[in-house]
Amino acid sequence: MNNLESLNARFVKSLFHAYGSDLVPLLPEIRNHNVTARERLGLSGGSTGNADCGFLYLLVRAFNRRSIFEIGTYVGTSAIAMSLAARNNDGTVVTCDPEDYGCLPESVKELIRFLHMPSEEALALLQRENKTVDFVFADWAPSQQAIERINELSTDDFIFTAHDYVLPDDKGVVAKKLMTEHYKRVKECTWILPDEEPVQVAPGIELQQCTAVLIPNRLLADWV
Ligand SMILES: C[S@@+](CC[C@H](N)C(=O)[O-])C[C@H]1O[C@@H](n2cnc3c(N)ncnc32)[C@H](O)[C@@H]1O
Repeated sequence: MNNLESLNARFVKSLFHAYGSDLVPLLPEIRNHNVTARERLGLSGGSTGNADCGFLYLLVRAFNRRSIFEIGTYVGTSAIAMSLAARNNDGTVVTCDPEDYGCLPESVKELIRFLHMPSEEALALLQRENKTVDFVFADWAPSQQAIERINELSTDDFIFTAHDYVLPDDKGVVAKKLMTEHYKRVKECTWILPDEEPVQVAPGIELQQCTAVLIPNRLLADWV
């Protein structure tokens, strides 16, 4: 391992080393959903790209996540990527969006539950159902109210991820600031922030473009 590399690069390469062979054959399927779903609806942009979807896959797989919550479904590319990893762990994905684009294919409906509502309401619903959450992917910055729900629902080993960590103030930066201020276990965790360029993990494969990860120190220790 090259210690001159950033923490982020070492972390991504370490996850890829363990689970990359499972991920690589799935990347075309993930990309295909992104392109075809948006084409069908005439949507020009905004779905999570393969570099971050692949990274999410590795995180869910490596940390054996079973109860994943996503803020912002849109066309469902990231939900699909996480569900492909979660199915190995007996896990499922709950994803929510106040808009319903109807893009989740029938084939994943057993693994992905769509809640047609904003994250605050979706988290409150999960709380009424006595559910817990061990992983959040925020592709829309969580409100303080949503973070208060996360404080109540999250497991001790909870991992938080946020998309579009792009300085100075894209939504991942906002999410990081709010989680740092309001998440109850932040002091036991480390932020892993993307480098300026994605991490090249194999010829022609780049992962982790702009996802911020807040991970408990005791989980991180095994991987870097
Ligand atoms: C960048 S898109 C998500 C892209 C998605 N990850 C994908 O792979 O297609 C952000 C989505 O967040 C949704 N959104 C806006 N406010 C929200 C809220 N309060 N709770 C949940 N989702 C919200 C928007 O409607 C939009 O569809």
